[in-house]
Amino acid sequence: MSLDTAALKPQERLASRLADDLEAVNAMIRARMASDHAPRIPEVTAHLIEAGGKRLRPMLTLAAARACGYAGPYHVHLAATVEFIHTATLLHDDVVDESRQRRGRPTANLLWDNKSSVLVGDYLFARSFQLMVETGNLRVLDILADASATIAEGEVLQLTAARNLATGEDTYIRIVRGKTAALFSAATRVGAVIAGAAPAVEAALFAYGDALGIAFQIADDLLDYAGTDAIGKNRGDDLREGKLTLPVIRAIARAEGTERAFWERTIARGQVTDGDVAEAHALMTRHGALESTGDTARDWAARAQATLEPVPPGDLRDMLSDLAGYVVSRIA
Ligand code: IPE
Ligand code: IPE
Ligand code: MG
Ligand code: MG
Repeated sequence: MSLDTAALKPQERLASRLADDLEAVNAMIRARMASDHAPRIPEVTAHLIEAGGKRLRPMLTLAAARACGYAGPYHVHLAATVEFIHTATLLHDDVVDESRQRRGRPTANLLWDNKSSVLVGDYLFARSFQLMVETGNLRVLDILADASATIAEGEVLQLTAARNLATGEDTYIRIVRGKTAALFSAATRVGAVIAGAAPAVEAALFAYGDALGIAFQIADDLLDYAGTDAIGKNRGDDLREGKLTLPVIRAIARAEGTERAFWERTIARGQVTDGDVAEAHALMTRHGALESTGDTARDWAARAQATLEPVPPGDLRDMLSDLAGYVVSRIA
Protein backbone atom coordinates (compact mmCIF):
# COMPACT_ATOMS: atom_id res chain seq x y z
CA MET A 1 0.00 0.00 0.00
CA SER A 2 1.39 3.40 -0.93
CA LEU A 3 1.75 6.16 1.62
CA ASP A 4 -0.95 8.37 0.13
CA THR A 5 -3.60 5.64 0.38
CA ALA A 6 -2.57 4.32 3.77
CA ALA A 7 -4.71 6.87 5.61
CA LEU A 8 -7.89 6.10 3.64
CA LYS A 9 -10.77 4.02 4.93
CA PRO A 10 -11.06 0.58 3.29
CA GLN A 11 -14.07 1.62 1.21
CA GLU A 12 -12.18 4.71 0.01
CA ARG A 13 -9.18 2.57 -0.83
CA LEU A 14 -11.42 0.26 -2.85
CA ALA A 15 -13.02 3.27 -4.55
CA SER A 16 -9.60 4.63 -5.44
CA ARG A 17 -8.32 1.24 -6.68
CA LEU A 18 -11.48 0.80 -8.78
CA ALA A 19 -11.82 4.47 -9.77
CA ASP A 20 -12.07 3.93 -13.54
CA ASP A 21 -14.59 1.12 -13.21
CA LEU A 22 -16.61 3.10 -10.71
CA GLU A 23 -16.68 6.11 -13.01
CA ALA A 24 -18.03 3.87 -15.77
CA VAL A 25 -20.68 2.55 -13.37
CA ASN A 26 -21.73 6.07 -12.35
CA ALA A 27 -21.93 7.10 -16.01
CA MET A 28 -24.10 4.08 -16.76
CA ILE A 29 -26.33 4.84 -13.78
CA ARG A 30 -26.77 8.45 -14.90
CA ALA A 31 -27.57 7.38 -18.46
CA ARG A 32 -30.11 4.77 -17.41
CA MET A 33 -31.93 6.61 -14.63
CA ALA A 34 -33.37 9.09 -17.11
CA SER A 35 -36.73 8.83 -18.84
CA ASP A 36 -37.87 10.77 -21.88
CA HIS A 37 -41.52 10.39 -21.11
CA ALA A 38 -42.05 10.99 -17.40
CA PRO A 39 -40.10 13.90 -15.88
CA ARG A 40 -40.96 12.76 -12.35
CA ILE A 41 -38.61 9.81 -12.85
CA PRO A 42 -35.34 11.74 -13.31
CA GLU A 43 -36.41 14.19 -10.59
CA VAL A 44 -36.77 11.42 -8.02
CA THR A 45 -33.82 9.32 -9.16
CA ALA A 46 -31.51 12.33 -9.34
CA HIS A 47 -32.52 13.40 -5.84
CA LEU A 48 -31.54 10.02 -4.43
CA ILE A 49 -28.64 9.07 -6.66
CA GLU A 50 -26.88 12.44 -6.56
CA ALA A 51 -27.04 12.36 -2.77
CA GLY A 52 -24.27 9.81 -3.18
CA GLY A 53 -24.52 6.73 -1.07
CA LYS A 54 -21.48 4.67 -0.33
CA ARG A 55 -21.72 2.56 -3.53
CA LEU A 56 -20.69 -0.43 -1.44
CA ARG A 57 -22.59 -3.04 -3.43
CA PRO A 58 -21.34 -2.03 -6.90
CA MET A 59 -17.81 -1.92 -5.51
CA LEU A 60 -18.28 -5.50 -4.29
CA THR A 61 -19.20 -6.62 -7.80
CA LEU A 62 -16.28 -4.77 -9.38
CA ALA A 63 -13.81 -6.00 -6.79
CA ALA A 64 -14.98 -9.61 -7.05
CA ALA A 65 -14.78 -9.58 -10.84
CA ARG A 66 -11.35 -7.94 -10.91
CA ALA A 67 -10.01 -10.15 -8.12
CA CYS A 68 -10.97 -13.11 -10.32
CA GLY A 69 -9.06 -11.62 -13.26
CA TYR A 70 -12.01 -10.33 -15.30
CA ALA A 71 -11.02 -8.08 -18.23
CA GLY A 72 -14.32 -7.72 -20.13
CA PRO A 73 -16.92 -4.93 -20.01
CA TYR A 74 -19.89 -6.53 -18.22
CA HIS A 75 -18.85 -6.11 -14.59
CA VAL A 76 -19.86 -2.46 -15.10
CA HIS A 77 -23.41 -3.46 -16.16
CA LEU A 78 -23.65 -5.80 -13.21
CA ALA A 79 -22.42 -3.21 -10.73
CA ALA A 80 -24.94 -0.68 -12.08
CA THR A 81 -27.66 -3.35 -11.90
CA VAL A 82 -26.88 -4.00 -8.28
CA GLU A 83 -26.96 -0.29 -7.39
CA PHE A 84 -30.29 0.12 -9.21
CA ILE A 85 -31.78 -2.79 -7.30
CA HIS A 86 -30.45 -1.24 -4.08
CA THR A 87 -31.88 2.19 -4.95
CA ALA A 88 -35.26 0.68 -5.88
CA THR A 89 -35.43 -1.15 -2.54
CA LEU A 90 -34.52 2.05 -0.68
CA LEU A 91 -37.38 3.94 -2.37
CA HIS A 92 -39.81 1.19 -1.42
CA ASP A 93 -38.30 0.71 2.03
CA ASP A 94 -38.69 4.38 2.95
CA VAL A 95 -42.39 4.18 2.06
CA VAL A 96 -42.87 1.03 4.12
CA ASP A 97 -40.89 2.46 7.05
CA GLU A 98 -42.44 5.93 6.65
CA SER A 99 -38.90 7.32 6.84
CA ARG A 100 -38.22 11.03 6.50
CA GLN A 101 -34.47 11.07 5.98
CA ARG A 102 -32.11 9.16 3.68
CA ARG A 103 -28.52 9.92 2.71
CA GLY A 104 -28.73 13.10 4.75
CA ARG A 105 -31.65 14.40 2.67
CA PRO A 106 -35.43 14.33 3.01
CA THR A 107 -36.77 11.07 1.56
CA ALA A 108 -38.53 11.00 -1.82
CA ASN A 109 -41.78 9.95 -0.13
CA LEU A 110 -41.59 13.11 1.95
CA LEU A 111 -40.58 15.46 -0.89
CA TRP A 112 -42.98 13.97 -3.45
CA ASP A 113 -45.30 11.21 -2.22
CA ASN A 114 -45.59 7.47 -1.63
CA LYS A 115 -47.04 6.88 -5.07
CA SER A 116 -44.03 8.44 -6.79
CA SER A 117 -41.61 6.43 -4.65
CA VAL A 118 -43.33 3.13 -5.35
CA LEU A 119 -43.62 3.73 -9.08
CA VAL A 120 -40.11 5.12 -9.57
CA GLY A 121 -38.81 2.19 -7.51
CA ASP A 122 -40.59 -0.16 -9.91
CA TYR A 123 -39.05 1.73 -12.82
CA LEU A 124 -35.56 1.28 -11.39
CA PHE A 125 -36.18 -2.43 -10.86
CA ALA A 126 -37.18 -2.76 -14.50
CA ARG A 127 -34.13 -0.77 -15.59
CA SER A 128 -31.92 -3.08 -13.54
CA PHE A 129 -33.32 -6.11 -15.39
CA GLN A 130 -32.61 -4.47 -18.76
CA LEU A 131 -29.01 -3.86 -17.71
CA MET A 132 -28.36 -7.40 -16.60
CA VAL A 133 -29.93 -8.86 -19.73
CA GLU A 134 -27.32 -6.94 -21.72
CA THR A 135 -24.62 -9.18 -20.25
CA GLY A 136 -26.14 -12.13 -22.11
CA ASN A 137 -25.24 -14.33 -19.15
CA LEU A 138 -28.13 -16.47 -17.89
CA ARG A 139 -26.44 -17.39 -14.63
CA VAL A 140 -26.12 -13.81 -13.46
CA LEU A 141 -29.77 -13.24 -14.40
CA ASP A 142 -30.70 -16.23 -12.28
CA ILE A 143 -28.67 -14.98 -9.30
CA LEU A 144 -29.93 -11.39 -9.41
CA ALA A 145 -33.56 -12.40 -10.02
CA ASP A 146 -33.33 -14.75 -7.01
CA ALA A 147 -31.79 -12.01 -4.89
CA SER A 148 -34.57 -9.55 -5.85
CA ALA A 149 -37.22 -12.05 -4.75
CA THR A 150 -35.31 -12.81 -1.54
CA ILE A 151 -35.03 -9.11 -0.65
CA ALA A 152 -38.79 -8.69 -1.00
CA GLU A 153 -39.35 -11.83 1.11
CA GLY A 154 -37.10 -10.43 3.82
CA GLU A 155 -38.98 -7.14 3.88
CA VAL A 156 -42.34 -8.92 4.05
CA LEU A 157 -41.14 -11.27 6.80
CA GLN A 158 -39.97 -8.24 8.76
CA LEU A 159 -43.34 -6.58 8.25
CA THR A 160 -45.21 -9.55 9.69
CA ALA A 161 -42.73 -10.02 12.56
CA ALA A 162 -42.96 -6.35 13.59
CA ARG A 163 -44.65 -5.67 16.94
CA ASN A 164 -44.40 -9.36 17.86
CA LEU A 165 -42.37 -9.56 21.08
CA ALA A 166 -41.95 -13.32 20.64
CA THR A 167 -39.72 -12.81 17.57
CA GLY A 168 -36.44 -14.61 18.18
CA GLU A 169 -32.90 -14.30 16.90
CA ASP A 170 -33.42 -17.00 14.23
CA THR A 171 -36.18 -14.98 12.64
CA TYR A 172 -34.11 -11.81 12.91
CA ILE A 173 -31.19 -13.42 11.06
CA ARG A 174 -33.57 -14.78 8.41
CA ILE A 175 -34.93 -11.25 7.88
CA VAL A 176 -31.49 -9.66 7.68
CA ARG A 177 -30.12 -12.33 5.39
CA GLY A 178 -33.06 -11.65 3.07
CA LYS A 179 -33.50 -7.91 3.08
CA THR A 180 -29.80 -6.96 3.16
CA ALA A 181 -27.31 -9.82 2.80
CA ALA A 182 -28.99 -11.29 -0.30
CA LEU A 183 -27.90 -8.31 -2.38
CA PHE A 184 -24.38 -8.25 -0.92
CA SER A 185 -23.90 -11.97 -1.67
CA ALA A 186 -25.43 -11.66 -5.14
CA ALA A 187 -23.17 -8.66 -5.81
CA THR A 188 -20.00 -10.58 -5.01
CA ARG A 189 -21.20 -13.79 -6.63
CA VAL A 190 -22.06 -12.26 -10.02
CA GLY A 191 -18.61 -10.67 -10.07
CA ALA A 192 -17.12 -14.16 -9.75
CA VAL A 193 -19.54 -15.64 -12.30
CA ILE A 194 -18.91 -13.05 -14.99
CA ALA A 195 -15.18 -13.65 -14.53
CA GLY A 196 -15.66 -17.39 -14.99
CA ALA A 197 -14.20 -18.13 -11.56
CA ALA A 198 -13.91 -21.70 -10.25
CA PRO A 199 -16.89 -22.96 -8.20
CA ALA A 200 -14.91 -22.83 -4.94
CA VAL A 201 -14.04 -19.17 -5.54
CA GLU A 202 -17.62 -18.31 -6.46
CA ALA A 203 -18.85 -20.04 -3.30
CA ALA A 204 -16.27 -18.19 -1.19
CA LEU A 205 -17.30 -14.82 -2.59
CA PHE A 206 -20.97 -15.65 -2.04
CA ALA A 207 -20.28 -16.62 1.58
CA TYR A 208 -18.23 -13.45 2.06
CA GLY A 209 -21.09 -11.25 0.80
CA ASP A 210 -23.60 -13.07 2.96
CA ALA A 211 -21.59 -12.67 6.17
CA LEU A 212 -20.60 -9.09 5.30
CA GLY A 213 -24.23 -8.16 4.66
CA ILE A 214 -25.36 -9.64 7.95
CA ALA A 215 -22.56 -7.85 9.84
CA PHE A 216 -23.50 -4.62 8.05
CA GLN A 217 -27.21 -4.79 8.90
CA ILE A 218 -26.59 -5.74 12.53
CA ALA A 219 -24.28 -2.71 12.79
CA ASP A 220 -26.94 -0.56 11.13
CA ASP A 221 -29.57 -1.79 13.59
CA LEU A 222 -27.25 -1.03 16.49
CA LEU A 223 -26.64 2.50 15.17
CA ASP A 224 -30.38 3.13 15.12
CA TYR A 225 -30.10 3.22 18.93
CA ALA A 226 -26.45 3.94 19.60
CA GLY A 227 -25.43 6.11 16.62
CA THR A 228 -25.23 9.84 16.09
CA ASP A 229 -27.08 12.08 13.62
CA ALA A 230 -24.12 11.56 11.27
CA ILE A 231 -25.72 8.31 10.00
CA GLY A 232 -27.86 10.48 7.67
CA LYS A 233 -31.10 8.75 8.69
CA ASN A 234 -33.56 9.34 11.52
CA ARG A 235 -32.48 7.50 14.62
CA GLY A 236 -35.19 5.77 16.63
CA ASP A 237 -37.17 4.85 13.50
CA ASP A 238 -36.89 1.15 14.37
CA LEU A 239 -38.54 1.64 17.78
CA ARG A 240 -41.34 3.69 16.25
CA GLU A 241 -41.85 1.02 13.61
CA GLY A 242 -41.91 -1.73 16.23
CA LYS A 243 -39.01 -3.61 14.66
CA LEU A 244 -37.58 -6.54 16.58
CA THR A 245 -33.93 -5.85 15.83
CA LEU A 246 -31.14 -7.68 17.62
CA PRO A 247 -30.54 -5.19 20.46
CA VAL A 248 -34.29 -5.11 21.12
CA ILE A 249 -34.63 -8.90 21.08
CA ARG A 250 -31.75 -9.18 23.55
CA ALA A 251 -33.08 -6.47 25.86
CA ILE A 252 -36.56 -8.05 25.85
CA ALA A 253 -35.05 -11.43 26.73
CA ARG A 254 -33.76 -9.85 29.98
CA ALA A 255 -36.80 -7.69 30.74
CA GLU A 256 -39.16 -8.23 33.65
CA GLY A 257 -41.94 -6.21 35.27
CA THR A 258 -41.84 -2.54 34.27
CA GLU A 259 -39.25 -3.20 31.58
CA ARG A 260 -41.49 -5.78 29.98
CA ALA A 261 -44.36 -3.27 30.18
CA PHE A 262 -42.17 -0.68 28.42
CA TRP A 263 -41.57 -3.03 25.47
CA GLU A 264 -45.24 -4.05 25.38
CA ARG A 265 -46.26 -0.40 25.16
CA THR A 266 -43.68 0.76 22.64
CA ILE A 267 -42.88 -2.20 20.39
CA ALA A 268 -46.12 -4.21 20.65
CA ARG A 269 -48.69 -1.42 20.91
CA GLY A 270 -46.79 1.29 19.05
CA GLN A 271 -47.23 4.00 21.69
CA VAL A 272 -43.88 5.75 21.40
CA THR A 273 -43.42 9.20 22.90
CA ASP A 274 -40.51 11.59 23.43
CA GLY A 275 -37.86 10.04 25.59
CA ASP A 276 -38.75 6.45 24.76
CA VAL A 277 -35.80 6.02 22.41
CA ALA A 278 -33.51 7.21 25.22
CA GLU A 279 -35.25 4.84 27.65
CA ALA A 280 -34.85 1.94 25.22
CA HIS A 281 -31.16 2.82 24.94
CA ALA A 282 -30.86 2.84 28.75
CA LEU A 283 -32.51 -0.59 29.10
CA MET A 284 -30.25 -2.00 26.39
CA THR A 285 -27.21 -0.60 28.15
CA ARG A 286 -28.33 -2.05 31.50
CA HIS A 287 -28.49 -5.54 30.02
CA GLY A 288 -25.39 -5.30 27.84
CA ALA A 289 -27.57 -5.71 24.75
CA LEU A 290 -25.71 -3.06 22.74
CA GLU A 291 -22.35 -4.56 23.59
CA SER A 292 -23.38 -8.11 22.76
CA THR A 293 -25.01 -6.97 19.51
CA GLY A 294 -21.70 -5.31 18.60
CA ASP A 295 -19.92 -8.59 19.39
CA THR A 296 -22.28 -10.49 17.12
CA ALA A 297 -21.69 -8.04 14.27
CA ARG A 298 -17.93 -8.41 14.75
CA ASP A 299 -18.29 -12.22 14.70
CA TRP A 300 -20.04 -12.05 11.32
CA ALA A 301 -17.36 -9.68 10.00
CA ALA A 302 -14.65 -12.11 11.12
CA ARG A 303 -16.56 -14.90 9.40
CA ALA A 304 -16.62 -12.84 6.21
CA GLN A 305 -12.85 -12.41 6.39
CA ALA A 306 -12.29 -16.12 6.99
CA THR A 307 -14.26 -17.09 3.88
CA LEU A 308 -11.93 -15.21 1.54
CA GLU A 309 -9.16 -17.80 1.61
CA PRO A 310 -9.99 -19.48 -1.77
CA VAL A 311 -10.13 -16.09 -3.54
CA PRO A 312 -7.00 -15.32 -5.60
CA PRO A 313 -4.59 -13.43 -3.32
CA GLY A 314 -3.83 -9.80 -4.09
CA ASP A 315 -4.61 -6.26 -3.12
CA LEU A 316 -8.33 -6.59 -3.89
CA ARG A 317 -8.73 -9.61 -1.64
CA ASP A 318 -6.94 -7.69 1.10
CA MET A 319 -9.23 -4.71 0.60
CA LEU A 320 -12.33 -6.91 0.82
CA SER A 321 -10.99 -8.30 4.06
CA ASP A 322 -10.36 -4.78 5.39
CA LEU A 323 -13.85 -3.75 4.31
CA ALA A 324 -15.33 -6.40 6.59
CA GLY A 325 -13.41 -4.83 9.46
CA TYR A 326 -14.60 -1.41 8.45
CA VAL A 327 -18.35 -2.09 8.41
CA VAL A 328 -18.16 -2.99 12.07
CA SER A 329 -15.69 -0.23 12.95
CA ARG A 330 -18.68 2.14 12.62
CA ILE A 331 -19.93 0.66 15.90
CA ALA A 332 -16.61 0.39 17.74
C1 IPE B 1 -28.78 1.18 3.51
O1 IPE B 1 -27.63 0.72 2.88
C2 IPE B 1 -29.76 0.05 3.62
C3 IPE B 1 -29.33 -0.97 4.56
C4 IPE B 1 -29.16 -2.20 4.17
C5 IPE B 1 -29.12 -0.65 5.95
P1 IPE B 1 -26.34 1.64 2.72
O2 IPE B 1 -25.94 2.17 4.06
O3 IPE B 1 -25.31 0.90 1.97
O4 IPE B 1 -26.91 2.83 1.87
P2 IPE B 1 -26.19 3.91 0.97
O5 IPE B 1 -26.32 3.40 -0.42
O6 IPE B 1 -24.77 4.08 1.39
O7 IPE B 1 -27.01 5.15 1.20
C1 IPE C 1 -33.15 -1.58 4.52
O1 IPE C 1 -33.48 -1.96 5.75
C2 IPE C 1 -33.06 -2.88 3.76
C3 IPE C 1 -33.43 -2.75 2.37
C4 IPE C 1 -33.00 -1.80 1.63
C5 IPE C 1 -34.30 -3.75 1.77
P1 IPE C 1 -33.77 -0.88 6.89
O2 IPE C 1 -35.14 -0.35 6.76
O3 IPE C 1 -33.41 -1.56 8.15
O4 IPE C 1 -32.66 0.18 6.57
P2 IPE C 1 -32.68 1.74 6.66
O5 IPE C 1 -32.42 2.05 8.09
O6 IPE C 1 -34.00 2.21 6.18
O7 IPE C 1 -31.53 2.17 5.78
MG1 MG D 1 -35.86 1.59 6.38
MG1 MG E 1 -36.96 -1.29 6.40
